[in-house]
Amino acid sequence: MASTISFSTGNVRLIRVGNDHHYVGLRPISPQRCVSFVARAKAKPSMVIRASNEQDTSAKISSRSIEECEAAAVAGNFPDPLPLYRPSGPRGTRMLNLLYSLSRRPRRNRKSATLRASFQETNLSAANLVLPLFIHEGEEDVPIGAMPGCFRLGWRHGLLDEVYKARDVGVSSFVLFPKIPDALKSQTGDESFNDNGLVPRAIRLLKDKYPDIVVYTDVALDPYSSDGHDGIVREDGVIMNDETVHQLCKQAVSQARAGADVVSPSDMMDGRVGAIRAALDAEGFHDVSIMSYTAKYASAFYGPFREALDSNPRFGDKKTYQMNPANYREALTETEADEAEGADILLVKPALPYLDVVRLLRDNSALPIAAYQVSGEYSMIKAGGVLKMIDEEKVMMESLLCIRRAGADIILSYFARQAASVLCGMSGMKFK
Ligand code: PBG
Repeated sequence: MASTISFSTGNVRLIRVGNDHHYVGLRPISPQRCVSFVARAKAKPSMVIRASNEQDTSAKISSRSIEECEAAAVAGNFPDPLPLYRPSGPRGTRMLNLLYSLSRRPRRNRKSATLRASFQETNLSAANLVLPLFIHEGEEDVPIGAMPGCFRLGWRHGLLDEVYKARDVGVSSFVLFPKIPDALKSQTGDESFNDNGLVPRAIRLLKDKYPDIVVYTDVALDPYSSDGHDGIVREDGVIMNDETVHQLCKQAVSQARAGADVVSPSDMMDGRVGAIRAALDAEGFHDVSIMSYTAKYASAFYGPFREALDSNPRFGDKKTYQMNPANYREALTETEADEAEGADILLVKPALPYLDVVRLLRDNSALPIAAYQVSGEYSMIKAGGVLKMIDEEKVMMESLLCIRRAGADIILSYFARQAASVLCGMSGMKFK
């Protein structure tokens, strides 16, 4: 503490260069007073004003009771002005006085936890999260190798269990993805509109047990297609647009009939939002919303998901319907079409590598924006955590917050339950 010197503010000026504090002193106070200040500072840290740019984040409470403080104030005994105490830098730090006229010091607004919280521009809450769930006909919950912590849930037990646990931490929105047995797959994916199929059954069960949850569904043929494509494949390999849309309308109506709150076409066929809106309305489902996958890119980040559902395309890729990752403006064309056709929510997918597109949609539409943190994004963070290369929990929370900052209202994420438990204060819980 020998190098600590205190000054009265009247005769010195403190400046800072980098992390170091310096002064242009007019008349430093006497060494004796200085020593006594330092002693007082040590004895009663709560009585010290630090000239430092960092404030202690620990609570500082005077040792006197409220009554004593009040009595002293009534008697006119106000505390002396607090001494200014300047912590020293490391030994040998050069004293510079270059930046004293700096008028903007953005670090001032970051100097304590309370100030940082006051000025935080974006927040994440469980209400913003939608948890995707994989379901299958079996009774067991089968771990998904490429997505540690995710399971194909048995629709009777595991599904209800998982929803119970998610609701417990405040997640009330779910999107269902079915693993369909090969025997039920076909070239036209007709199982997708079987009213007694896996998805409609699971929706009815969920809505019966938890009427207050919001159930989103996936509208696309790939889980039901023997070709593994989102649409019907013509003999020359072309994905047929209008014929596929016809199937998707039947699928969406079947899901609405089962009680779905939001149907989400993820197929990227042209004109499907308008057609699905008309089909829903014709059946009286005016209140069922459409979340359109507006900007869904042909992304390698879907790899683990396709393993989960065994839904890899049997040939080729999805580039004739999903968007080129190189394209930005094209997302506006899709946005205009989806808005005009009556979409209620616009979705961007994947999320983290496409934050510019999330922002683009946010700035060009008044509709709610969703972003899908897809399987590959999830698995990379999990793998990095397992290998101890990153702090899984911190990276998870940061990635979700950043997706919100880019403009997403809701985030579909396999981390939804884990992140919500962190938001509930249950940090460090084990999620395999
Ligand atoms: C297909 C669909 C896909 C995903 C959601 N719906 C995969 C695909 O387009 O091949 C991917 C989700 C993920 O990777 O988490 N309709």
